[in-house]
Amino acid sequence: MATREFPLVPRAVQEVHTAHRTIGTPIPVPESIPLLQHLRAAEPRSMGGQPPVLWDHGQGFIVGDKWGNRWIDFSSGVLVTASGHGHPKIVAAIEGMARQGLYHAYGFPTEIRAQLIDALQARLPEPLARVFLLTTGSEATECCIKLARTRGLALGGPKKSVFITFDHAFHGRTMGAQWAGGIPGLKTWLGDPDPRFVNVPFPDGFRQKDVSFDVFETTLAKLGVVPDNVCGVMSETFQGCNATLMPPAYAQALRRWCNAHKALMIFDEVQGAFGRTGKMFAFQHLDVVPDLAACGKGISGGMPLSAVLGTAELMDMYGPGEMTSTHSANPVCAAAALANLEVIQSEGLIENAARLDPVLKAGAARIAEAAKGSLGACSAVGLVAALQFAQPGTTTPSPERAWEVVKRCVERGLLLFSPVGVGGGAIKICPPLGITREALEEGLSVLETVVTETAE
Ligand SMILES: Cc1ncc(COP(=O)(O)O)c(C=O)c1O
Repeated sequence: MATREFPLVPRAVQEVHTAHRTIGTPIPVPESIPLLQHLRAAEPRSMGGQPPVLWDHGQGFIVGDKWGNRWIDFSSGVLVTASGHGHPKIVAAIEGMARQGLYHAYGFPTEIRAQLIDALQARLPEPLARVFLLTTGSEATECCIKLARTRGLALGGPKKSVFITFDHAFHGRTMGAQWAGGIPGLKTWLGDPDPRFVNVPFPDGFRQKDVSFDVFETTLAKLGVVPDNVCGVMSETFQGCNATLMPPAYAQALRRWCNAHKALMIFDEVQGAFGRTGKMFAFQHLDVVPDLAACGKGISGGMPLSAVLGTAELMDMYGPGEMTSTHSANPVCAAAALANLEVIQSEGLIENAARLDPVLKAGAARIAEAAKGSLGACSAVGLVAALQFAQPGTTTPSPERAWEVVKRCVERGLLLFSPVGVGGGAIKICPPLGITREALEEGLSVLETVVTETAE
């Protein structure tokens, strides 16, 4: 698998001084180089892929270093800090719980766990009723796979264990999650393919032009998958690499298909939930409710917490003590998550994401024009967008171009994480949900300028 790193060589760049951005040093900052080099030497190479900005502090949609540089954050880390960096209410919640002396409680009951469960349950559409708190998104998707297999076994015996996911999907980096993902490069490391994990094309309209549900059924037939042997179908509501929601008609047909074949419909909402798309859950755009949803990232605003949401019937399959985790509902993380949910609601962050949806769409369209044919696809919903750089007229990714755009944006005070998706050709735009229209426009115009320059 190809890996890339940004060079640790300071480059003299033009100074930037705006209301939201400051760049007053070479990038990377010369004084930061020893620490960046130390990390590269001390950690696995896999940790080295992000732009060489030494994060020091954060406030709202701004991230700063120790040398006075400030970036508009279009990353939210990696779609995590929904309510912004350093929100005083989340800081107070974390501090309060730590001062109470409760930074761990295992599965012993706590008031904060009950409060968070209640707050989450109050936001669930029926028939989703139970909340199981975990730590990472991968743990949540793995739990969904396990529940689907367990139910399949109960209903149809060992043959009902085929688990369907989609091409290019990302569900995390633990073994089951990686098997379930649709990125071939990640699976080749895992040894012999597990035939019970089957990928079908995701209806994104770019790499898969025919977005009708027929493709799902014909693909299974071609692969020789017997529908009644399927225990579950899991998809991101929008794929991380393309920010295109599953088409509602497709999702509704999938819901009917899952009902007909007693397979669970599962959405991986690790990126989509808690307002990112302008609704609480991204599946609410699709007029369907899944049997299970895996959540993480934006649930807590930053602390490691994830959740599986499911129907009572499914979530109660395991008996007391049979489905637990050491750090489930960690009290500090739970306090942060509760505060985060309150902030999302009281500050109208979901509404802000919906309000800024047309601004992001218009900006993405301008960037596509500036790219002069080198953007294969460009999509946006709420406050998430993906720009997929590709060789003109093809779906072949252009990772060099995407990496150059990220590098130049960072040099100008716009923070993006490294390109993702097929061949590393996609740039994601995903600021904290409280970003102002002015700052969003400012960041988009930086991107437009850089894309224009690199198209010349
Ligand atoms: C859609 C999706 N699912 C699952 C995961 C895995 O989450 P985590 O990295 O917290 O394990 C990610 C992480 O990027 C994701 O984007």
